[in-house]
Amino acid sequence: MPAPTPSTLHQQLRLATKEPHHALDHHPLMARLLAPDVSRDEYGDALAAMHGIYATTEAALLTYLARSPELFDYASRRKLPALEADLAALGRQAVAVTVPLPAIDGTGALFGMLYTLEGATLGGQFIAARLRQQGAGDLPMQFYTVYGEQVRPRWLAFLENAEQRCPSAEYPSAVATAVALFEGISRHLDTCRQP
Ligand code: HEM
Repeated sequence: MPAPTPSTLHQQLRLATKEPHHALDHHPLMARLLAPDVSRDEYGDALAAMHGIYATTEAALLTYLARSPELFDYASRRKLPALEADLAALGRQAVAVTVPLPAIDGTGALFGMLYTLEGATLGGQFIAARLRQQGAGDLPMQFYTVYGEQVRPRWLAFLENAEQRCPSAEYPSAVATAVALFEGISRHLDTCRQP
């Protein structure tokens, strides 16, 4: 008998992105962030690559939400300024995206993209704690500590908002967009590693 489809949007998103998340956090560029001997250059490589992703997706989110502001307040959650501050402190240039990333063509796609970016703040908290443990706490970490103590409350508020505002007919689109974004990020990281 096939496994039943989980009921909530969050359950569906988490299940569908489990493997692509695993692929992403094991990508050589990302995995180095957790290595005990991570260098300042490797840390900068990961942030420089992420800039292209956030520049593209945050612009798409803000454009879409300007037309439907009742769906979510993303403007107060932008992470690009923190990322740019870290890159400036490291003296590094951003790397633009050259692979396709999913577009936002409806409410489902909106919440699929938001899920991926908001969930990444949980991973960021984990990465920042690990870097401090490894003695690399002097690296500029505005991006990975972007919500400070508010990571968990803001995550829960996002999930609650998503369950309320995303109609169940849009769940397949949310799931497809989140998976496509994870896969797009992995492909972008591949291009960043090519000489
Ligand atoms: C080295 C890289 C990464 C590591 C080590 C990592 C680690 C983690 C961890 C530990 C969690 C669970 C946190 C918790 O439940 O308290 C998490 C959740 C999550 N991460 Fe990552 N992450 C990484 C990269 C990313 C990236 C680049 C993205 C997307 C841009 C991402 C998206 C997510 C999402 C959406 C969740 C929420 C999963 C859920 O629904 O519970 N992560 N990550």
